[in-house]
Amino acid sequence: MIKIAVPVSGTGSNLQAILDYSLPVTLVISDRDCLAIEIARNAGIPTVNLHRTFGPKFNKDAFTLEILKYLWKYDIGLIAMAGFRTILSDFAFDWFPKRFLNLHPSLLPKYKGAHAVRDAIMAGEKVTGCTIHIATAVLDEGPILAQQKVPVLPDDTVETLHERIRIAEWELYPKTIAKYLREIS
Ligand code: GRF
Repeated sequence: MIKIAVPVSGTGSNLQAILDYSLPVTLVISDRDCLAIEIARNAGIPTVNLHRTFGPKFNKDAFTLEILKYLWKYDIGLIAMAGFRTILSDFAFDWFPKRFLNLHPSLLPKYKGAHAVRDAIMAGEKVTGCTIHIATAVLDEGPILAQQKVPVLPDDTVETLHERIRIAEWELYPKTIAKYLREIS
């Protein structure tokens, strides 16, 4: 059975959806203190909080290597990033080709980056959504596995729209991971 790791940084609502779907999550990795890592601990799943530093002192390669060591240690075969906010060094994707999945709150290729929800509102979009794709060394690029459209309402704020996108993500991400697991097994 392929073992899944879920890197997280935030509220962990997608991690919760993945756990509720009974996917074989054997490790949750965070880069900071966050609610998501608490969710994993409460679920009794092994966790590692790597407490990354911010600013010029951050050593991305060393941090990436630290992550890889845990992926090897736990014999991980699929990494489903769920709101993970550190961009890893390119070599991570060479060691685990086609084994990193990413969840992004826009209809890629539109609105890459950290402000996808805000950027869709600012552009006057009537529809945005979420995308699940195979992650590559290039941020928010890689083969798309699934997308779900979500309406943008006239009085939406970043928060209200992102919450509506999350609801779509909770539905789409676990079943897309399950389907991909079957394909690579
Ligand atoms: C999701 O909306 C995902 O698309 C983005 O980060 C958010 C994580 O939310 N990459 P949560 O921590 O799962 O609640």
